Amino acid sequence: MIITINRPDKLNALNQQVMKDLDAVMDRVYKFPEIKSVVITGAGLKSFVAGADVKEFESLSKEDATALAKRGQDVFFKIENSPKPIIACVNGFALGGGCELAMACHIRIAAEQARFGQPEVNLGLIPGYGGTQRLTQLVGRGKALEIMMTGNMVDATHAFQIGLINQVVDATALMEEAKKMMRAILSKGPQAVARVIQAVEACFDKTKDGYQEEVTLFGQCFGTAEMQEGVSAFLEKRKPKFS
Ligand code: COA
Repeated sequence: MIITINRPDKLNALNQQVMKDLDAVMDRVYKFPEIKSVVITGAGLKSFVAGADVKEFESLSKEDATALAKRGQDVFFKIENSPKPIIACVNGFALGGGCELAMACHIRIAAEQARFGQPEVNLGLIPGYGGTQRLTQLVGRGKALEIMMTGNMVDATHAFQIGLINQVVDATALMEEAKKMMRAILSKGPQAVARVIQAVEACFDKTKDGYQEEVTLFGQCFGTAEMQEGVSAFLEKRKPKFS
């Protein structure tokens, strides 16, 4: 499935309706077996997502804002914990909630002109959709603090160098590169891919012991048709056929 955030006249800013739609579409990703993987991108050439919709902030009370952040985090947790692989195809600005959305995806591929940042401090705010946590996980404490405290934008090459993104490509090749990587992932055992996601996410879930999770998930692989096919194919020196 390709999800396109489609408000190009507002640089695809995430208003509450878009967040609701994203939540609903993620429910479909979990529910329908015919959806094997997801690519998330932004409409137009200029922006992936330029943040949460600042216009909606004007009228929010403290309580409203707290609820907004909680709802946003829940949507992004659905993306992060999806058993099906999700790649962010970052075609332009990925600022604020846009950078947070990209970081919630499992993999990020960006066009050369993409720009990343958490500019919330410019508005007297901090990231609210998981950015303080995921940016720190991805680039480390020092760089994360620098990016969030200065609000400066990071270009795609620099984002690649600091580990914020997985790959930088020419804009014309962006979607094809994402599909190429997705095809490689989809040629593997889908249950194994889902368990990799689950084990890695356990590393950042304070309610879980990641090593114990890995032991459990490793054990679960045994006895699956997928594992039997993978091991048989290796021993018979042929390519595995996963379904
Ligand atoms: N929320 C709401 N509207 C936004 C938006 C956001 N986060 N980002 C951009 N837009 C809107 C602009 O208001 C403008 O709308 P208008 O034409 O009705 O005035 C339109 O998108 C185009 O943006 P504009 O600022 O004119 O484009 P630009 O090329 O001059 O600048 C950015 C691009 C990304 C640098 C600039 O839009 C920006 O700084 N956006 C906000 C980024 C941000 O702070 N995000 C975090 C929010 S918590």
